Amino acid sequence: MRFFIANWKANKTLAEAHLWVDEFTSYTKKNPLTDTVIICPPDPFLIPLLDKVSETSHLEIGTQNISQYPGGSYTGETTGKHLKGIVKYAIIGHHERRAYFNENDDVLLEKFIQAKTAGIEPIYCIGSTTDKIPDQAKIIAYEPSSAIGTGQNEDPKRVVEIKKELNLSKNTFFLYGGSVTSQNATSYLKTGEIDGFLIGSESLDPLNFYRIVTS
Ligand code: PGA
Repeated sequence: MRFFIANWKANKTLAEAHLWVDEFTSYTKKNPLTDTVIICPPDPFLIPLLDKVSETSHLEIGTQNISQYPGGSYTGETTGKHLKGIVKYAIIGHHERRAYFNENDDVLLEKFIQAKTAGIEPIYCIGSTTDKIPDQAKIIAYEPSSAIGTGQNEDPKRVVEIKKELNLSKNTFFLYGGSVTSQNATSYLKTGEIDGFLIGSESLDPLNFYRIVTS
């Protein structure tokens, strides 16, 4: 199984999100998807998009973040209990969360536990082999900060070396993220070692994203 994850970050209006799904679905109607394709929109769009994609059935929904707390007096937080039943996946530990919101390995482990407790599968991001990976992580995305949003995608050979260094258990899915495009996607998949991608900028356009998904 391969994973293609669209990380929209803090982009798009609700109207644009609907249009994205309409356009993407128009492509997949002709050529049904065989892989797991997950869209991670801003949280306020999760419910409207869930309603929309349940009609199309081939898209999954994920959140870009989850609270480290189970609930209570934490103004502004969205917890696992809130997200349960809405999302199947949660991106945890993205470089931007680590860099701009000071999320360290300890905080991220709490987030991981909250996701798992809610029955949400974490897509756990690391930027290097020194980032600690929670023991039960099943989907790991390696995203070197030098490659995120820069157009400087990491050499596929280097990505495979990183995977070896991580010495992951056999049932782990290892994804790559960082300036993935429809032009470079195949060079990663060809290695036979990379189980899919976490995609930022190129996922904002449904056709570009579709091209990656079918690469
Ligand atoms: P990018 O972002 O594809 O725009 O480099 C990747 C990510 O931030 O997950």
